[in-house]
Amino acid sequence: MFNKTFNNVIVVGQGYVGLPISVNAAESGFKVFGFDISKEKIDQLKMGNSDSPEVGQKDLLRLQKKGRLEFTNSIPSVTEKSIFIIAVPTPLDSNRKPDLTMLISACEAISTVLVDDSLIINESTSFIGTLRNLIKPTIENSSSAKNIKYAVAPERIDPGNSKWGIQNTPRIVSGLDYEATELAKNFYSKFCNVIQTTSKPEVSEAAKLFENTFRHVNIALVNELSNIAQAFNISTHEIIQAAATKPFGFMPFFPGIGVGGHCIPVDPSYLVHSAESVGCKAKFIEIANETNSRMPEVVAARIQKFLGGDLRGKRIQLAGITYKPNIADLRESPALELMAILKDLGAYISWCDPYVVRYGDQRSTELDKSIDLGLIVTPHNKINFSIWKISGTKVLDLSTNTKNYGWPKSL
Ligand SMILES: NC(=O)c1ccc[n+]([C@@H]2O[C@H](COP(=O)([O-])OP(=O)(O)OC[C@H]3O[C@@H](n4cnc5c(N)ncnc54)[C@H](O)[C@@H]3O)[C@@H](O)[C@H]2O)c1
Repeated sequence: MFNKTFNNVIVVGQGYVGLPISVNAAESGFKVFGFDISKEKIDQLKMGNSDSPEVGQKDLLRLQKKGRLEFTNSIPSVTEKSIFIIAVPTPLDSNRKPDLTMLISACEAISTVLVDDSLIINESTSFIGTLRNLIKPTIENSSSAKNIKYAVAPERIDPGNSKWGIQNTPRIVSGLDYEATELAKNFYSKFCNVIQTTSKPEVSEAAKLFENTFRHVNIALVNELSNIAQAFNISTHEIIQAAATKPFGFMPFFPGIGVGGHCIPVDPSYLVHSAESVGCKAKFIEIANETNSRMPEVVAARIQKFLGGDLRGKRIQLAGITYKPNIADLRESPALELMAILKDLGAYISWCDPYVVRYGDQRSTELDKSIDLGLIVTPHNKINFSIWKISGTKVLDLSTNTKNYGWPKSL
């Protein structure tokens, strides 16, 4: 029987995914090294500051003081077998193809310090076959360490979700062999309630891509419904809420100004890439990509119509510009594109976002009642809409949730 005991965990990448893993592993008794190439990030983490809503300053400082968690800018040299977790970005390039530059760099860094019998786990989202055909060969090309085990455990975290976190979201795990699966399972069992193993890493990789693609395609479908509903002058939200009274076979999704973040607009294209690599077509995903990415333009046209057809000189303020409420993440936020289009159409744009100090050459401003139109885009809990309500400001509620802010939903 193999020895399941590891003392050290090295987490490569300290972002929305890597940092909560570092903290949970440290709380479970491992000695954790949180490695990130960003010096600024490491300096902030050393002071206990993070963007991740899952991680508090007190815990970061306490774990560092106890010596359980150490943040570093260079990959630590360990003298005994360790667990290495890859949690770096896996974006798309300018042609919307997988860009695994950071994942490959992470593998190269790991291979410089790898000790025999270590375990490497990939949590970054990538195309089917990444662990077997890219991570393992990249590491083996530059490391002579023996008996290295490889597993995937795709992260499913939803930053800011107060109900579902690392501990109670089931973790999908799979290794390249039985021992790797067991070692990874043993590691996650220290802080995850449910571990679901799959027969091979390719299944886990595909499951992660499919989960987000399912969401992406359904959002596109509902965005399409919103176009139809507008033409009939009926409310999309009301249609969906009525349909959702069916107790089986239906799951509600709500329309919005597009999709944002590092997952929904990106991961489906990794599934497209996987499909193409084996000669298959992924038509639904392509259509969903097209539908969702056109939404800022579609919504801008609706706003223009709402304001009488001409946006020149109109003062429009957006409430919230991050891609979802209560977090600071601006990546792929469709609000940014919507602002750019409205500006091109001649509007003066301002925005209020308590999580974003500056974007481009603009700073966040307080909600303004003297504007021509207010847009509820990303309604952070910290934004109080009463000033718009009291002053009778013209407002369109473009947010995706069902909460009523005092104006009917406008999509
Ligand atoms: N953010 C989410 O909600 C989420 C959810 C599930 C899965 N994922 C996936 O997890 C992965 C990481 O995403 P994230 O949101 O944590 O990204 P992030 O940008 O928040 O953090 C990644 C960190 O990795 C660092 N980094 C980049 N290259 C590095 C290298 N070679 N060595 C060390 N550090 C490096 C960056 O400086 C950054 O701090 C992606 O594949 C993403 O698709 C993200």
